[in-house]
Amino acid sequence: MPNSVNSIVLKLFTTKESLKQHLLQLKASNKTIGFVPTMGALHQGHISLIELAKQQNDVTVCSIFVNPSQFNDPKDLEKYPRTIEADTELLEQVKADILFYPGVSEIYDDNEQWHLDIGETEHLLEGEFRPGHYQGVTQVVYKLFNIVKPDTAYFGQKDYQQFLIISKMVDMLHMPVKLIMCPIKREPDGLAMSSRNIHLTADDRKHALILSKTLNWVKDNFDSHNIPALKKEAGLMISAEPGVELDYFEIANGDDLHQADKNAKTIVALVAAKVGKTRLIDNVVLK
Ligand code: PAF
Repeated sequence: MPNSVNSIVLKLFTTKESLKQHLLQLKASNKTIGFVPTMGALHQGHISLIELAKQQNDVTVCSIFVNPSQFNDPKDLEKYPRTIEADTELLEQVKADILFYPGVSEIYDDNEQWHLDIGETEHLLEGEFRPGHYQGVTQVVYKLFNIVKPDTAYFGQKDYQQFLIISKMVDMLHMPVKLIMCPIKREPDGLAMSSRNIHLTADDRKHALILSKTLNWVKDNFDSHNIPALKKEAGLMISAEPGVELDYFEIANGDDLHQADKNAKTIVALVAAKVGKTRLIDNVVLK
């Protein structure tokens, strides 16, 4: 078969109107749309979402938008990695169909102040350490879903709490989109892949392994220890690691992130810590 028949060209859209028009035509011919919202600095975790979206849909849309409203620290927003050229290349390699890459003024009017109130889950764990973070996430994901109107949207398990909160938003607002959570992708030594790993120094990179090691230890010892003992030991393991400052280690009910007891249907261990200057999160489903 000649190459031109097989080749797929990544289509770039920077305005919501042009993207909406294009997607309307595709939907009119009954094409299903899979959507992977990202903030760029793409890694194999993102690529696994795009690959699944491609398998399950006729058209795969990826957005790259570093959303200012989900950063409570302006310095964190400023230093968030932006690697659009490498991202575009990766999207071409994986044969994504559409990249939506809007500027801030395309998504937000001046001084937008509204937010959705998703309830207490957004104030726990990450919500406690990054106040307003999930309000920014739901704000932008709501907008992106309204632009793309996907059949299915794909998120990584690494931000387990984000997935719960977006699911709650979709239920509350009866948004017609199916959500899929995809497993965490890890480096061969166990470090969870993250756009923020770019910022780790060689030393940080070694110390960061304590997070996945501790989560694995908790998983291996889940049946033989009670939850307070597991949390205590995990906290000690992480605090003993040089250069690592623990924000939280929680063993939580996987449905609402309240402290779990062993009878809960789903139990997740979640951790957040600063490694050097970089804040990392990770988690593992225990049950
Ligand atoms: O997970 C992310 O990359 C972001 O929080 C998301 C979902 C793209 C919203 O900005």
